[in-house]
Amino acid sequence: MKAQIVVLPGDGIGPEVTGEAVGVLRLIADRCGHEFTFVEHLIGGCSIDCYGTALSDGALEACKRSQGVLLGAVGGPRWDNPSADVRPEQGLLALRKELKVYANLRPVKAHPEMLETSPLRRERVEGVDLLVVRELTGGLYFGRPQGREKVDGGVRAVDTMEYFDYEIRRVVELAFRLARGRRRKVTSVDKANVLETSRLWRSTAVEAARGFPDVKLEHMLVDTAAMRLITAAAGFDVLVTENMFGDILTDEASVLTGSIGMLPSASIGDGGPGVFEPIHGSAPDIAGKGLANPIGTILSAALLLRYSLGLEGEAAMIEGAVARALHEGARTADVGGSLSTSAMTAEVVRHLTAHNKN
Ligand code: IPM
Ligand code: MG
Repeated sequence: MKAQIVVLPGDGIGPEVTGEAVGVLRLIADRCGHEFTFVEHLIGGCSIDCYGTALSDGALEACKRSQGVLLGAVGGPRWDNPSADVRPEQGLLALRKELKVYANLRPVKAHPEMLETSPLRRERVEGVDLLVVRELTGGLYFGRPQGREKVDGGVRAVDTMEYFDYEIRRVVELAFRLARGRRRKVTSVDKANVLETSRLWRSTAVEAARGFPDVKLEHMLVDTAAMRLITAAAGFDVLVTENMFGDILTDEASVLTGSIGMLPSASIGDGGPGVFEPIHGSAPDIAGKGLANPIGTILSAALLLRYSLGLEGEAAMIEGAVARALHEGARTADVGGSLSTSAMTAEVVRHLTAHNKN
């Protein structure tokens, strides 16, 4: 298969981890007879430095024309001025909105050999295999009006949480479809005891569930969900929730796997290229030191193969190699090991080539 993949390394450790993942994709192309072309563009702070905007039109157009986008991370203290008009994160939000990738899939699986790396007790983590489906192009992140004004006696800032029923329906239905390939349970997470958008979320989820009688639907308030992720995460199969709740809960859930550096994500919509990125940030404190964990990005590359290119076998090859490398004790510093970014990748590559001789 021929595919054009846009790589947006971004800031901080972004270039290091995407570089490793591209290497893995090249190897897959080589071994499985595919022709992948990689085109690199700027996003985030480095794009602001170069073009004055966090995502240039040229970069966005290239993404739209591609079959999939592999992204590193954006942001850093250099661009962290709260009064700045242009911020690195705007590039990421614009990309998600423009590519209409309304669903962000964040699988969280506790690798059996990594149970000791979680700060939680083994029995809390054992058997965790959940998928968070986070709504990605609506809610507080995109509500209008947004802004700040001086008023009598202070300064007023406004963000608004807005949802249309069709925005909720499409992401909840996707969660149900994904649950059919898993343990057939969907937990819809909201704050329906307080928020009107959450009440709309809940009633829309109930309607959507009628099309999926074979899947169990439960509702959970977001504060309870935050607690249960720590106390009883193995009970979850698919969680579906609005944009900001999903942002927060997935950082929390990453602790189950020992490190946020392990977790990949896939952002997809109704066809068109998806965006694949680790859920971690740009980690400016360790940038350029070869310390970053490449696993989240390598697994994101696997998700690109699965969801954007339909290459399930190849995706599974990468996931298998990662699991075997971890099984044999390969670890970067964030999970208690001493391997560098490239040495960790080399371990994955070794298992990829050893196991899939042709
Ligand atoms: C994420 C990140 C982003 C988000 C930031 C960088 C805008 O935290 O992908 O989870 O909040 O969506
Ligand atoms: Mg986040």
